[in-house]
Formats: sequence, C-alpha cells, structure tokens
Amino acid sequence: MTSAPGLDIDLNDLDLFVRGDVHDTFALLRRHEPVYWNADPDGSGGFWALTRHQDVFTAYNDPARLSSRHGTVMGGSYRRRSDSAGGRMLIASDAPEHRLLRQRAHPAFRTDVMERAGVVVRGYVSEALDRVLADGRADFADVALELPRGLLAVMFGLDRDEALRLLTLTRRMIGHQDPSCIGDGAGEMALVAAQMEIFDLMNALVTQRRRKPGQDVVSILLEARLNGRPMTESEILYNCLNIAVGGDETTPFTAAAAVEAFAEHPDQYDRLLERSDLLDSALNEIFRWTSTNAYVQRTARTDLEIGGQRIAAGESVTLWNVSANFDEAVFERPDLFDVAREPNRHLAFGSGPHRCIGQNAAWLEIKILLEELLARRMRLTVAGPVRRLRSNFMLGPTSLPVRVESHR
Ligand code: HEM
Repeated sequence: MTSAPGLDIDLNDLDLFVRGDVHDTFALLRRHEPVYWNADPDGSGGFWALTRHQDVFTAYNDPARLSSRHGTVMGGSYRRRSDSAGGRMLIASDAPEHRLLRQRAHPAFRTDVMERAGVVVRGYVSEALDRVLADGRADFADVALELPRGLLAVMFGLDRDEALRLLTLTRRMIGHQDPSCIGDGAGEMALVAAQMEIFDLMNALVTQRRRKPGQDVVSILLEARLNGRPMTESEILYNCLNIAVGGDETTPFTAAAAVEAFAEHPDQYDRLLERSDLLDSALNEIFRWTSTNAYVQRTARTDLEIGGQRIAAGESVTLWNVSANFDEAVFERPDLFDVAREPNRHLAFGSGPHRCIGQNAAWLEIKILLEELLARRMRLTVAGPVRRLRSNFMLGPTSLPVRVESHR
C-alpha cells in the first residue's frame, strides 16, 4: 500500500455522491491518479480505486487475481462476515462455486419468465403513469418502484403487497446509511436488521414452496443440485437475497435518473419521440449515464500491479463503473447525454464471469417504462428539490418531484 502523493479525495465521503457532481472528482482521478489509494481518514487502512475504463474492464476479467469472495460492497457486512456469504452467494463467490451457482440461478431469468414479468410490469407501470397523468404531478422515485415490484412479484411468486414489503426491506438494506430510508437508526445495525427481516421473509417462502412448488426463484433453487447434493438452506437464502437486492435496488434508481435526464435534455426526448429505432441506443445511454451501481469491490488474491501501482495480497480493489462510463479515452464527449450514442461500451452491468445476471430484466423494465412514457407522449419536468440516496454504492434519486408538462 502507498499513500497518494497528490490528490486528497475520499470516495467514502457520501456528500460527494449526494451532491451529484461526482464526475469532476473522477475526471481528476482518471487524469492524475487512475489507480488511487484511498486511505481511511484514521489511517487504519483503505482501498484502491480503479477509475479508467481499461483498468476497470481488465479487473472485471481477472477473477484469478481479484476475488469476489469477500464481498462487492466496501465495509459491507459480507466483507466482515465473509465466512458466511463467501462461496455461497453468487456475487460473493469465485470459481468453481460461482460457476455452479450461476448455472443453477439461470432458469429464474429464462425468456418465458421475462415474458410473464413483462406483462405484469407493463400493467403496473401503465396504471401508475395514468395516475400521474390524472394528478398532473408525482414523485417519480415512487412511480419507479412499480418496475421491480412487477418483476419480483413474478420472479418470487408474490402478490402485489408482498412484493412491496420485499421492496421496503431491500430499500432499508441498501439505504442503511441514509436517514431518509431508515430514520434516526441509520448505520450498520440497520443493515443487519433489514437483512435478517429479508431472511425471515425468504425462510417463510422456502417453507411454503417446499409444500407447494411453483415456477419461482425459491422453487427453482430448492430443486437445484450442486455437485449432486441439494442446495443448503443458507445457499438458497443468500442467493434469494442477492437476486432480491439486485432486482429491487437498481432499476428504480435508473428509471428515476432517466426521467431526470430527459427532463434536463428535452431535445433527446424529442429525438426518441420522432425515431423509435433509437430505443436500443437510448437504453444503453441511460445505463451509461445513470451508472446506478457506482462500483464493485474485489480483493487481491496475490501481490499484483495495476497501472504501475503495487497492490498487496488481501487489499481491497474497487472498480468504479461510474468513472469508467465517463472515460474520455473511450467515450466521445462523455458529458453529453446522447440517445443515439454508438458505440457505447459502458460497464454499467460489469463484465466477465459476474456480469449482471439480471441485465435482460433491467433492460426489459426500463424499455417498458420508456415505451409507456412515449406512447402517452408524456413530457415530465422536475418540479422540486431532488433527493439522492446517501450512498456511494447505488446512485439515484430517492425523491424526484415531477410535473406533467404536456402529453398527447
Ligand atoms: C440497472 C440495473 C442494474 C445494474 C446497473 C446492475 C449492475 C450489476 C453489476 C455491475 C453486477 C456485477 C457485480 C460484480 O461484478 O461483482 C451485477 C451482478 C448481479 N446482478 Fe445486477 N444490475 C442491475 C439489475 C439487476 C436485476 C434487475 C437483477 C435481478 C433481478 C440483478 C441481479 C444481479 C445478480 C444476482 C448479480 C450477481 C451475478 C454474479 O455474481 O454472477 N441485477 N449487477
């Protein structure tokens, strides 16, 4: 470990992310210290931050030297209690366990599941948008929750209220540092408490599905075999948690941030209204622009070197998608929101063996939202202060007051 000679930036300073101007900070890092040692303020440790597209991409594809086993969230409960989730949960495992777990989880994301989910998501979203039209205004951060609500209702075989309960819990987990999600009790204990409640909910589902199997994630994992044996209860619970958090706490932030982006760039919305063939490139640009999952963490398995910096075995290495996706070496005019951007080699879903397994689901959800907004020719403007999640891991609005400016 070496300390940074020049820049004094702390990527654990959440104010940096809440203010929404974090791109300037990453531009500085990319230019001056692309492999940055972010020391803890008390000098007790720290982590490496990779900020260039090339380094982030290479690191994603180097699982032999960079392990996922100690968790992908810095300081998160998985890291400190890495013995419990490590090797059992998709996102916190390495080969060969990871490959097996991923194969077993795949049927939960099959095309027919996504088709059923699409119908439900479209129903929920249409209803919500019609309500927004009737009222003339809304908090779009709430409207956006209808996306994962529909997806997870189908994936976990839940009714609408149960899906909402799961959403409330995953929001408490991911927003455990944010008083607006948790109230006064924000902190590590809130994270543990939310996680325990999700496990209770999943445990109840396991009991139900043992009695009456369905086509949902829990039933799929109950049926699955790992090296000839059934999955253990904790393997099932951890992977349900992974899918629930991955599903609930990403797309609503992306959706709200996309609406904010279109409100700020109405010309790009006009282009989409005129040219439906731009929908796919617009979706990619939304995923790049929002970079909802700001970073993932790896742990060095051996001493290694990246960009001339020596990284010691055991040190934490963070891969900043939100920086890579704005790297001027790869994206022409990265600060431009351009729905026709081609090529668009964004890393919003990661890369390599852990590349987001829910990518198609996310694509489907945001596509449905865009299609339904465009079908109503709904133009939304921001009508009040935007509040952002207090986190450096997930980025996006927790409150986005909007007004309907015009439609049809
Ligand atoms: C905009 C939406 C989304 C973004 C930006 C996103 C981002 C990511 C990223 C960057 C990874 C790689 C993690 C790593 O390399 O350590 C990942 C993995 C994962 N995502 Fe997503 N995700 C999204 C939506 C979803 C959805 C909708 C689901 C589930 C329904 C989901 C479930 C997962 C799971 C289970 C993994 C772990 C995969 C593995 O380790 O093999 N994600 N996601």
